[in-house]
Amino acid sequence: MLTFDDLLLRARSLAGDGRRRTLLGIAGSPGSGKTTLAERLVRELDDAAHVPMDGFHLADVELDRLGRRDRKGAPDTFDAAGYAALLRRLREDADEIVYAPGFERVLEQPIAGAVPVAPTARLIVTEGNYLLLGTGAWARVRAELDEVWFCETDEEERVRRLVARHEAFGKGHEEAVAWVRGTDQRNADLVAGTREGADLVVGPL
Ligand SMILES: Nc1ncnc2c1ncn2[C@@H]1O[C@H](COP(=O)(O)OP(=O)(O)OP(=O)(O)O)[C@@H](O)[C@H]1O
Ligand SMILES: [Mg+2]
Repeated sequence: MLTFDDLLLRARSLAGDGRRRTLLGIAGSPGSGKTTLAERLVRELDDAAHVPMDGFHLADVELDRLGRRDRKGAPDTFDAAGYAALLRRLREDADEIVYAPGFERVLEQPIAGAVPVAPTARLIVTEGNYLLLGTGAWARVRAELDEVWFCETDEEERVRRLVARHEAFGKGHEEAVAWVRGTDQRNADLVAGTREGADLVVGPL
């Protein structure tokens, strides 16, 4: 079983001699621990930056226009083409700060300009559900990434964590459970099917 230190070593060797930027992706179902792992890696590494796919959620006003608000979190509720373009820019443009959008969990809205990536960042760790999906613009996202890891967590534990997180950010218990069993589960099943495309599967740490 891989330990966190194994992953740290692998991330370090990916970053290599630092002449060019390296992009590491972390995929996995909702609540599988992608953000936690990315933040931990970036904390331990010098010259690494965390860029979440979550920043590319479409805003509620656009989801309303599309009639997709109740499916928030599904692949077509993200700006996948914009995400791919940002990843390309991060690879090519290392002379100035590049701003990525963030995601605000209380508002559940993307926020432009929330994540600065310094010119000194050599390893970009980006994470989200659909990095390995391979359909439409998601294929361009995968093509920008040097390596993609897949976070896998025991299903019961994953659901328990997800309900707890929805509650922590303001949903009532019933509402949290309904969302996790409904919308989140559909997305989780879709993501689970992309596991084979990963370079590495990461279990519980
Ligand atoms: N190794 C771990 N041990 C215990 N709890 C963890 C661990 N990793 C993550 N968690 C908890 O599980 C929840 C989900 O983790 P995290 O937010 O990292 O998942 P995620 O894959 O980024 O989810 P999402 O797809 O919804 O963004 C969080 O509340 C986090 O604190
Ligand atoms: Mg996350």
